[in-house]
Amino acid sequence: MNELSLFLPCAAGVEPLLATEVAAILQRPAQEVSAQRAGVAVQASWREVMLLNLHSRLAQRVLVRLRHGPYRSEDDIYALARDVPWEMWFGTRQTFKVDITAQRSPLKSLNFAALRVKDALVDRFRDREGERPSVEVRWPDARVHAHLTSEHLSLFIDTSGEPLFKRGWRADKGDAPLKETLAAAMLAACGYSQSLDGQPPCVTQGLPLYDPCCGSGTIAIEAAQIACGIAAGSQRYFGFEKLLPFESHVWEALRRQAIDAQHPPLAEIHGSDVAFRMVDFASQNAQRAGVEHAVHFRGGDALQRNPPIERPGVLLLNPPYGERIEAAGVAGRQRAIVEGEGDFFLRLAQHWREHYPGWTAWILTPDLKLPGRMRLKENRRVPLWNGPIECRLFRFQMR
Ligand SMILES: C[S@@+](CC[C@H](N)C(=O)[O-])C[C@H]1O[C@@H](n2cnc3c(N)ncnc32)[C@H](O)[C@@H]1O
Repeated sequence: MNELSLFLPCAAGVEPLLATEVAAILQRPAQEVSAQRAGVAVQASWREVMLLNLHSRLAQRVLVRLRHGPYRSEDDIYALARDVPWEMWFGTRQTFKVDITAQRSPLKSLNFAALRVKDALVDRFRDREGERPSVEVRWPDARVHAHLTSEHLSLFIDTSGEPLFKRGWRADKGDAPLKETLAAAMLAACGYSQSLDGQPPCVTQGLPLYDPCCGSGTIAIEAAQIACGIAAGSQRYFGFEKLLPFESHVWEALRRQAIDAQHPPLAEIHGSDVAFRMVDFASQNAQRAGVEHAVHFRGGDALQRNPPIERPGVLLLNPPYGERIEAAGVAGRQRAIVEGEGDFFLRLAQHWREHYPGWTAWILTPDLKLPGRMRLKENRRVPLWNGPIECRLFRFQMR
């Protein structure tokens, strides 16, 4: 259990940020962590598997790779899966589920390939123990992941269970919440990430952060947890707690260590939204996330609100795109008169120029032409994916 091959999947665009995060959590040199397509690979111990689940803000899951080999047919898949010592990870009294993903696989049916993995696993248990574990699709004790490329099959045991963006604090979703992992990627891209050495979390030395379209508060709450040193997974259960190698005293010690490392906020965080309903959601979420003392939510139109603090800081937001959610407030009321939401962004830029001199604004948007529409020139653009939607995180300096 000391030399496990891990793969941590993440959203496209996040790989280098996740590689940096993994190296920081494991306190390893960067060259020991390899950023690959859609994830990061690293060798680690079972204890480090728990540590990564507990602290990673960017990974979707922590998977342990149990087999990797070439295949040409479903029979090869069966043979590879039959050879894996599944009995080291779960027993016949536990339930399991097989998930499969593929990238350029020549096989006709992925469902059939997943079925062959399931058959192999069940046959192995039956041969060795005379019994087999049952399949449970919704709440399995163990999750097996199979990934097919054009020529290779990889088989993993999932140690996370529910995906890691589920931090355990979200009660109220609002209309178009960001995934916590994407909010964390936005924060990491602008230099705001967990510091494991007691330094302020922002590379810009604890600058205040403000999301003026905060919705359910995801960005501000993630930022506040970072500012307080609260581990991302400190409020949830993990899949590894049901796997056979689990030792509760090791896990409890890691959790205790993480709780002891929490501290008062090292940066000031603000959020506001034109919809008072969303401000309520955000406040309730902040309370559940243990950061109600570290983040200040208020109502208000982004086109009218002045900076929440005097000294310049960082604006970070995913504004209304119009696809799922439209600009409201002044821009919303004038929509009938002024064509389109472009007006919202132009006005936002004007408002920021006038009232936010010295601030740095980061906006996540699927509209690659947004800088032109705002008549602003970006000085950085980071490609990020919001689910299937390709986005850019643009950085603008307000002078
Ligand atoms: C895409 S959502 C943001 C989601 C948020 N990041 C979250 O995780 O829940 C955009 C938000 O902008 C708000 N909004 C729309 N027009 C606004 C305006 N003029 N001023 C401030 N907020 C506005 C909406 O109420 C909505 O909550």
